[in-house]
Amino acid sequence: MTDPVRVEPVRVGLVGIGIIAETHLAVLAERDDVALEFTVDPQPVGPVDFRGATPPHYGGLGRALDEHRPDLVVVATPTETHVELAVQALLGSEAEVLVEKPLVHGLGSLARLRDLDGKADVRGRLFTAHHFAFSPEVDWAAGLIAANPAWGPVTAITSAFYDPYVLRGEAAFASYVSSWTDSGVNQLSMLTRFVDLIELTSARQTDGGASAWCTVEFRSRGELGTARLRSSWLTGSSSKESSLVLGRSGVEVWIDHTAMTGFAAREGELVAAFGNDGRTARKVAHYRPLYASLLSGRPDPVLGFDAAATITAIHQAVPGAR
Ligand SMILES: NC(=O)c1ccc[n+]([C@@H]2O[C@H](COP(=O)([O-])OP(=O)(O)OC[C@H]3O[C@@H](n4cnc5c(N)ncnc54)[C@H](O)[C@@H]3O)[C@@H](O)[C@H]2O)c1
Repeated sequence: MTDPVRVEPVRVGLVGIGIIAETHLAVLAERDDVALEFTVDPQPVGPVDFRGATPPHYGGLGRALDEHRPDLVVVATPTETHVELAVQALLGSEAEVLVEKPLVHGLGSLARLRDLDGKADVRGRLFTAHHFAFSPEVDWAAGLIAANPAWGPVTAITSAFYDPYVLRGEAAFASYVSSWTDSGVNQLSMLTRFVDLIELTSARQTDGGASAWCTVEFRSRGELGTARLRSSWLTGSSSKESSLVLGRSGVEVWIDHTAMTGFAAREGELVAAFGNDGRTARKVAHYRPLYASLLSGRPDPVLGFDAAATITAIHQAVPGAR
């Protein structure tokens, strides 16, 4: 009889203990193939509870990497700090690095990461948490459209993402830069599940960066189409919806990212519908499949550096972050 193979848990270091870190911690704690090795945040944060224990905490990533040898470093800090911390993790450890979206806040930062190739295996080790691409209604709609090639190409997309950040004032800008920086990347990464993105064709930011209206050209089954992307923080509620029109067949696929639901209709007829059992919180529903993919040994390409570079080129083509 042979001994069962003992697989060591993936040792994770979590950098940035803010709002989204709670979702990372909840999903990581579900996985028995993961151990939380350390946490990092320069601000005073309450003790992190991970399965009833508190891992060592550090005020800076450098100190943590002096003391630990993580397999995965997760960067969940304000957007403008991502690149600095990603570079530090890539050069200061052998870990894979999962960075919150957007990977970078400017094209210069993307070039900096590209230039690391040779010194660090950027393509093999650096991943971006494009979590909207893993949302259940997106998964459902992408599968539905792929299974119905007779519906023809997607010819038009409209997507509207609203977040209730207006009352957070400058703190929202400090963490997320602008509505386009924060939501635009979610809209673009979500769209990669349906179409091939080509280029930004127009961009207008208003309300001091709290709102945006952008158009992006895409290709679907060899034909060109346009996506209209609206985002805004001027609201008291979160609401996110997208509509995909397959104009040749008259099918419209409507997905509600807030409710994680969807339906497809053709004229007055309901063609397909999707709901959920109401038991899974929205962000957990995104990050659970994201981590399953990342830790599978064959991460989905939407997490990889090339996808991030394609998305960033369009995302950062909008002049001025605010
Ligand atoms: N809040 C969300 O729903 C959400 C969802 C998905 C992605 N994100 C992304 O995650 C990132 C963080 O968002 P958040 O909402 O958690 O922000 P947040 O402001 O709530 O938390 C960020 C945390 O990072 C810490 N931090 C700052 N600099 C640091 C450093 N150098 N080293 C370690 N820690 C540092 C801060 O002290 C803070 O505790 C952003 O890029 C955002 O776009 C947020």
